[in-house]
Amino acid sequence: MNKQDNVAAPDKVRALGWVDDHVSLLDQRLLPRREEYLQIRTSDDMVNAIRDMVVRGAPAIGIAAAFGVVLAAREARQAGGENWKEVITDKLRRIGAARPTAVNLHWAIERMRRRIERCGPDPVPDLLEEARAIHVEDIAANRRMGDLGAEFLKEAGAVLTHCNTGSLATGGYGTALGVIRSAYARGHVKAVYASETRPWLQGSRLTVWELRQDGIPATLVADSAGAHLMKAGKVSWVIVGADRIAANGDVANKIGTYSHAVNARHHGIGFMVAAPTSTIDPATAGGEEIEIEQRHGGELLTVAGQNIAPEDTTAYNPVFDVTPASLIDVLVTEKGAVERPDREKIAALLAK
Ligand code: MRU
Repeated sequence: MNKQDNVAAPDKVRALGWVDDHVSLLDQRLLPRREEYLQIRTSDDMVNAIRDMVVRGAPAIGIAAAFGVVLAAREARQAGGENWKEVITDKLRRIGAARPTAVNLHWAIERMRRRIERCGPDPVPDLLEEARAIHVEDIAANRRMGDLGAEFLKEAGAVLTHCNTGSLATGGYGTALGVIRSAYARGHVKAVYASETRPWLQGSRLTVWELRQDGIPATLVADSAGAHLMKAGKVSWVIVGADRIAANGDVANKIGTYSHAVNARHHGIGFMVAAPTSTIDPATAGGEEIEIEQRHGGELLTVAGQNIAPEDTTAYNPVFDVTPASLIDVLVTEKGAVERPDREKIAALLAK
């Protein structure tokens, strides 16, 4: 059972939260077979949990990192006493290096760092307050994006989504899945197709499971079925999240997103990205500057622990791709929706 902070929203699943003196993480590696929470008590354990994808999804990684900073402060205080601000520096660097692409990780650490500067001798209560605020604000942003995004889906009928962008990937409610949730509640979305998201299967293992918890029917399709679905007139919008949005509007998201975007443009189907402004990185000028995480080939070579390729097969496993801004019809953030995003529109959005 989930005994974490009770952060209100109508969806049932919570991926993470602070409990008593530690962080509780729903172990996403085990879903949908088992629903187990890992109790994270040290900053190193949080680094491992982020790297090994116990917790994943850009906003959830950011929130987990913020709670990891609270754990790091406790350790630094124990080890360094009044010099805790010196001791914590290396711990922050280690948390920041856990995964490279999701910019929310760095955004959250920077926000915690600013709070550290204002902390007194006992930093833990102040930093816990900040981490909890990041969590609560993320859910509020998702609810707002849900409202804004649903406005575009009045005649949607069916939508296609990729990866998992829901409560599991955020503080709660979700980004793209939040838009779908809101549109479904209004009767604007009748059917949801979830692409399975090889190789880690966030679509089949997580999205279908999560939507089922909230009574939203989802149909699983192979990643490669997207173009066929579009050609057959089965979907009118593709809705995805983001791990990093460059200053020019290019979007890094789960591998396979770019193919859906190319196919959507070819078939005249709307392509929406929903992400909080914490996912926009003004320091990254364009998508070509975004570091794409390469994960172990074993993710491709096995399914549920079984080999699915000949022994010694070489696998190449980039787990994100970049969709150019020119293929994005709408970017939905908590600060507003931007049609056909570009550098000027993104700058104006961030200035709001
Ligand atoms: O490798 P993951 O599972 O962390 O990748 C997650 C995604 O690509 C999501 O689409 C993205 O973080 C947006 S989640 C709200």
